[in-house]
Amino acid sequence: MKFNCLRRWREPRFSIRKLFNAAFVIREDGKFVEANSHLVSLLKYPSEKMLMERNYFLEILKGEDIEELKRETISEGISERTVMLKNINGQIIPAIQYLIPLSIKKTNVVFYGFLFPVERDLLRMIIAHPDVKVIYEAVNPLLSLTELKDFFSTLARIVFSFLYCDRISIIERRKEEGKTVVISVEGVNAEAICEKESNEEGSLAGFVFRMGKPLEIVDGTPEAEEFSKFLLKSDIKSTFIVPIYFRNEPYLAVCINRLQPLRFTSYEKEFLTFLCYQAGIVYQRLRFYEELKRWNSAIFQVFCRALSIKDKYTKEHSEITSQLAGEIAKELNLDPITQKNLMYGAMLHDLGKLIIESSILGKKGPLNENEWEVMRHHPIVGAELVEDIPEMEMIRRIILQHHERLNGTGYPYGLTAENIPLESRIMAVVDVFHATTSDRPYRKAKSVEQAIEEMKRDEGLDQNVVNALIRVLKRKGILK
Ligand SMILES: [Fe+2]
Ligand SMILES: [Fe+2]
Repeated sequence: MKFNCLRRWREPRFSIRKLFNAAFVIREDGKFVEANSHLVSLLKYPSEKMLMERNYFLEILKGEDIEELKRETISEGISERTVMLKNINGQIIPAIQYLIPLSIKKTNVVFYGFLFPVERDLLRMIIAHPDVKVIYEAVNPLLSLTELKDFFSTLARIVFSFLYCDRISIIERRKEEGKTVVISVEGVNAEAICEKESNEEGSLAGFVFRMGKPLEIVDGTPEAEEFSKFLLKSDIKSTFIVPIYFRNEPYLAVCINRLQPLRFTSYEKEFLTFLCYQAGIVYQRLRFYEELKRWNSAIFQVFCRALSIKDKYTKEHSEITSQLAGEIAKELNLDPITQKNLMYGAMLHDLGKLIIESSILGKKGPLNENEWEVMRHHPIVGAELVEDIPEMEMIRRIILQHHERLNGTGYPYGLTAENIPLESRIMAVVDVFHATTSDRPYRKAKSVEQAIEEMKRDEGLDQNVVNALIRVLKRKGILK
């Protein structure tokens, strides 16, 4: 097959309306099934409806042997030729026409077609037809991204949906190393160039990075001669590269290729340049967000390390209760943010133990009343340590209430069921479960079965949560 991108034309959700080229779908007899706004504009029809009442073969395409054209298209899977079109005023418009047979049954053939006008005046006419809705549709998936890992694939999907091209690659500039690296590529021969490293001096992308401006190279044009030293021997005949800025410097480049020596229309170039400008803003936002997440996680790790230095048991206790709390949250179908908060909350729930003397924490034997007084204070101290961070409000509550019990027998405030939110009830259950099944200086660990039996009888614990814990333990093979 000549064009890799033809595959997409056969996908049911692919719409010619989105393409930035004049495009149409016709029946075998030439009757329009669909025409996009660029074709309407190219042929100067006042509306899509009026154009679709015409017959493409009889009234628009001039001087062609239609039967021969159809035969060639069907036998080759595609036909490519320079044709003459007639617009509504009878003027002749030269264009390169591609026809692709869609469904071939004995009695039913449909052709997809797309056209590249070959005169500059006509290109200008197409440029004068900006479709704001289409541009909005195109950019929207990029603007709504929240994860950096989805950035490159989303950008490639947009380009493939809206521009006619056979390959898209995204190239990263590694300025300190003087290199450019292809970090993402889709389309023909993608494997051949993926992760390819080049010296910035000797690569086309490197030239674009240094210039900071888009560049088009089409085989057989003077520019292609000028840049021939950069061009590798390949089947690519048209290239358009646009830089994406990050921290005020060109940092990424989007490179689109065609296997045919077809110039990119001004509309296509403007669209990709606009898309890359937007992509730069989105990329910057996602990178900052990633950095913020890394910072949060680093600060969080500092808390956890402080706890583990204080007491080895508390480290293990925090990690295991965090895992279990996350599993129970999933089991109860809680939303992802609550799941995450519960896992963080469990990691930090005993943060207040930082102020408890090791002699009390590790005491072999029962605590006296004074020691219990200190111990009962640890949820308040832990909650105070994070109280100035608004984003940690749910975590603060989990820390503060993890020793509260539904029947009012808990501490520090003796809250009752109606005042204890689900997250804190989950924390209480996993806390009791792990503490009961662990060896402590003052008593031996109980078995999982014994712990669960005791918890089932405990009126201070939420039995829905205990049941969810049982399901999780059974699924993991910890409980029969
Ligand atoms: Fe605790
Ligand atoms: Fe605990």
